[in-house]
Amino acid sequence: MSSQSPSTTIRTASYEADPAQVHRVLLLYSGGLDTSVMLKWIGDEYGAEVVCLTVNLGQPAEDYGVIEGKALKLGALECHIVDARAEFAEQYVLPAIKANALYGGGYPLFTALGRPLIAKLAVDYARLTGCDTIAHGCTGKGNDQVRIEATIATLAPELKVIAPVRSWQMGREEEIAYAREHGIPIKGASEEGAPYSIDDNLWGRSSEGRWIEDLDHAPEDDVFQLVTRPEAAPAEPRHLELTFERGVPVALDGERLGLVELIERAAEIAAGHGVGIVDHIEDRIVGLKVRDIYEAPAAAVILPAHQELERLVSTIHQNQFKPELDRQWAYLVYAGLWWEPLRGDLDAYMERVNEQVTGTIGMKLYKGHARVVTRSSPNAVYDAALASFAESGGLFSQTASPGFIELWSLQSRMAWRLRNE
Ligand code: ARG
Repeated sequence: MSSQSPSTTIRTASYEADPAQVHRVLLLYSGGLDTSVMLKWIGDEYGAEVVCLTVNLGQPAEDYGVIEGKALKLGALECHIVDARAEFAEQYVLPAIKANALYGGGYPLFTALGRPLIAKLAVDYARLTGCDTIAHGCTGKGNDQVRIEATIATLAPELKVIAPVRSWQMGREEEIAYAREHGIPIKGASEEGAPYSIDDNLWGRSSEGRWIEDLDHAPEDDVFQLVTRPEAAPAEPRHLELTFERGVPVALDGERLGLVELIERAAEIAAGHGVGIVDHIEDRIVGLKVRDIYEAPAAAVILPAHQELERLVSTIHQNQFKPELDRQWAYLVYAGLWWEPLRGDLDAYMERVNEQVTGTIGMKLYKGHARVVTRSSPNAVYDAALASFAESGGLFSQTASPGFIELWSLQSRMAWRLRNE
């Protein structure tokens, strides 16, 4: 094994651990190969105790009992399993809904929203269990290291960080060899080659690696584990109604649901109709441009429904302005700056606008598409009588229009003439 000894590791950031001071480590444990190897490796390399933390953010089909058993069997002092679904939905996903949050035009930020919460919980549990250091399984090439370490360094300057995958210089084959050597069970047939790199929670699922790295390789069917392929979706469309109160999704098809349940239900319905697939080229914050395959069925119906309702209750001026702030919000969160005060400043604006966002949006789901088809709101800045093609009087005076056009176009007309005469 060609691992670099921690004592020779060059530390470049203030929060990186001095190996001599690593005694008890809080490991963010997923049960996968990287973090299982890490559990053993930290014990061997640092002579440190390891406390594991696994956070449930609603990743489907996860068996937390198995993860806990594996951690303890591999020598963890303790393994804490935390169900953070409600906190994730209410404190992280909900602000994203109010900000119509999409990065790069297509990524609903599920991983980016989850990381600051996971790292915050790591800080809480590290303090609770007397750990001096937090370890995570992120590589040195991704955004997740930024999100996790920025959170720890912000919330807990007294805690240090180690990121073994960044320093141990083991490839996948060496990790598997290390696992075999140390009796770490390897899930799935490792001989088949590297699996996709997956991250998921209740707001979506991402796949990276393998053929996804070939930009001219169209998606293979086996990558889709959440969303039904559109061509295999039912031939009958599904009408779905989402009701919002002050920007919060509160009911689905007229049935009031808590946010976690509503998101899960929306995901199931949309996924069944092939809705929520995004094949995304993305500018990572560390400079790389990469491709991700996303499956985000809940976001693919809740975000457009919210945005539609918000546009209906907002004025032309608000509708011109808010997308700029939405974009800035998504960028900050993508970039790992969840705790940056500007995010809070923007949230204050989002909250204020969302006070009006009450009503119901109907969508038609059909073979991979979700389209808004009905809208209703007590706060709609809309008057059918005014907008109608039928003759109207009252507030709208058509005879006032020419005067408006004369003044509205005045500067533009003058400028055009200056350039063209
Ligand atoms: N590209 C997305 C992001 O930066 C998804 C990352 C998924 N993370 C992972 N460790 N597989 O948020």
